[in-house]
Amino acid sequence: MPSAPSPKQSGGERLRDWYPYYAGFPSDFVGDALTRHFPSVNSILDPWNGSGTTTAVAAARGLGAVGLDINPAVTIVARARLTPVSIKESFDPLADEILRAAEIDAPKAFDVEPLARWLGGSSVEMVRRIQRAINTVLVADPDLEADLAADPGGRSSSLPLLATFYYTALFATGRDLLAPFRASNPTWLRYPPTYRHRLNPAPGAITVSFRERVQYLADRLTIASKAGAESPVLRTASAVDLRDENAYDGCFTSPPYATRVDYVRGSLAELSILGASDEQVADLRRRTTGTPTVRGVERKYCELSSSMANDIAIQIQDHVSHGSANYYGPWIRNYFSDLETSLSRIARAVKPDGVIGIVVQDSHYKSIPIDLQTIVTEAMAGEGRVLTCREDYEVRHSFARLNPAARKHLATRTNHESLLVFT
Ligand SMILES: C[S@@+](CC[C@H](N)C(=O)[O-])C[C@H]1O[C@@H](n2cnc3c(N)ncnc32)[C@H](O)[C@@H]1O
Repeated sequence: MPSAPSPKQSGGERLRDWYPYYAGFPSDFVGDALTRHFPSVNSILDPWNGSGTTTAVAAARGLGAVGLDINPAVTIVARARLTPVSIKESFDPLADEILRAAEIDAPKAFDVEPLARWLGGSSVEMVRRIQRAINTVLVADPDLEADLAADPGGRSSSLPLLATFYYTALFATGRDLLAPFRASNPTWLRYPPTYRHRLNPAPGAITVSFRERVQYLADRLTIASKAGAESPVLRTASAVDLRDENAYDGCFTSPPYATRVDYVRGSLAELSILGASDEQVADLRRRTTGTPTVRGVERKYCELSSSMANDIAIQIQDHVSHGSANYYGPWIRNYFSDLETSLSRIARAVKPDGVIGIVVQDSHYKSIPIDLQTIVTEAMAGEGRVLTCREDYEVRHSFARLNPAARKHLATRTNHESLLVFT
């Protein structure tokens, strides 16, 4: 019987080992799993890399690591984590230089300023000044930001490492500034009802927060030297499009679950700093696996290879409750289809004698159980991968519990997060 609590991170951000990213792994959990289940691998893939825990832990052990995430802001956060501790002494002087440059150089205005939804003019200007200064001092390209938000697979994957570090400090500053707009759902950011409800933090307070965030991140770096930091390759790309064949000894990862967590809205502060327009955010939500967006009714009928996934999709589609036929049914089919395609790509990318570790959580739609553990196991079996170990953990703070409408179903239910190991 499972007894240990879920390994996924929760609780205060002071306890986090890197950027406060929703549902990130703790490093210790990844380190322990790599030691026990991946004793002799040289290279590790994480195609849903998020804040980059797998790639950072692998890099700290001198392993080759490749991480993908579809979200360009998240790629920057994961790359920043690879900044070597050995240059820690230069973080404060560089922050000084950036803030000096921020005083001089006026920012270029966006046609539609995404941050203006929450912040008044002088606050937005200060954030943009710091951003332009990072671009000037560390990238030699003051007008970089439009490129970053628009272009998956582009500049977010190739920014200089130090620039990703200061961008991440600016993202964290942005999260601090927008914290009053966070809802109880940790991935939701409210909009103020009118312009008059926007906040106007003073420029001086923003620079103080930026410095604090540089320090916060510096204290959490784990890669000792540059040698370790060079090897990981982190790309903004979709797991669905992974085309590597027999390239890795192992994969350690965790996909989005069937809980409609909106990772894109959850990173709206960061994407807005990158200048992402409403259209770019909407496009990213459509392409991101598991967000509440449905890609169109034509995918309602797409075939699924897992028989359990197919049965669940039919049960949800046929459920009597409002929205099941037109929204939740197509949504779950989209989700399963993305998941199966990605799992098949992962199975091909890892060498036949390699190890694949996948962390998943079960959930429910109304009273219909969504046993993601079995679905993933069936999909992997279809690719010739055998489940050799399963470790279960109890989920004490399920995302669904945040939804008052779902709470009545939850009184008698325990969800499980499981590490599934395939060889
Ligand atoms: C459970 S989180 C991973 C968290 C990660 N293990 C960490 O420690 O931060 C799932 C991630 O998958 C990403 N994602 C969603 N759809 C994707 C896709 N099609 N391709 C690649 N990444 C995707 C999300 O942006 C999110 O960062």
